[in-house]
Amino acid sequence: MPKLIIANWKSNPDNSRQAIALAKAIDRKGVVIAPPYPFLEAVGKSIKKATLGAQDVFWADSGPYTGEVSLKQLKSLGVKYVILGHSERRIYLGETDDLINKKVKTALKSGFKVILCVGESKRKSLSSAKSFVKNQLRRNLIGVNRFKNLIITYEPVWSISGGDPRHRADNPKDAAEMVRFIKQMVRVKVIYGGSVTGNNAKSFFKHKEIDGVLVGGASLNSQEFKKMLK
Ligand code: PGA
Repeated sequence: MPKLIIANWKSNPDNSRQAIALAKAIDRKGVVIAPPYPFLEAVGKSIKKATLGAQDVFWADSGPYTGEVSLKQLKSLGVKYVILGHSERRIYLGETDDLINKKVKTALKSGFKVILCVGESKRKSLSSAKSFVKNQLRRNLIGVNRFKNLIITYEPVWSISGGDPRHRADNPKDAAEMVRFIKQMVRVKVIYGGSVTGNNAKSFFKHKEIDGVLVGGASLNSQEFKKMLK
């Protein structure tokens, strides 16, 4: 099965000219590009093979929600995937499991493919990480009973680079074990995220249970990203 590669640009780049250039450089089948909201339209128009994703969405179709972007608005721009529950939104924006659950339910109902991110902030042991992820998933998936369009990203918070060179990717064997564990709970595609680069991507791809990767920092450098695609 081809692997799914999500390019999560976070709050980068600085303008739409740079966003279009980067999108064109990494426009490949099997790649989902998730630019910041202001560049969604321009990126959507400039890609031919990749699929458009958003980094978040509000749970309502429309209405009095200042500053929020609705499901219908994303749909009108051709967005197919939405990333939900990313740890940076949980940490910096205070997103709770309850709120994420609401978003997951409504986005799935509206026909989006949902990339739900889960993962522990500290790894004391793999078994404690498993029980954390199990509880987080339970809370985020309350009331969800159709899993067809759900993709889960196992993204341990400590492994996300966030520009900090001390952060490192998970051991691919541990990541693969966690992916198997998640698949026992929910029968969906499960991908890995956290400091994936052109150099280490292969060590994750070689585990057949890992269905793809969510890439932050390395998706902003087209050379690095192409190395990964290769
Ligand atoms: P990273 O980010 O690849 O820079 O570690 C991954 C993510 O947070 O989506």
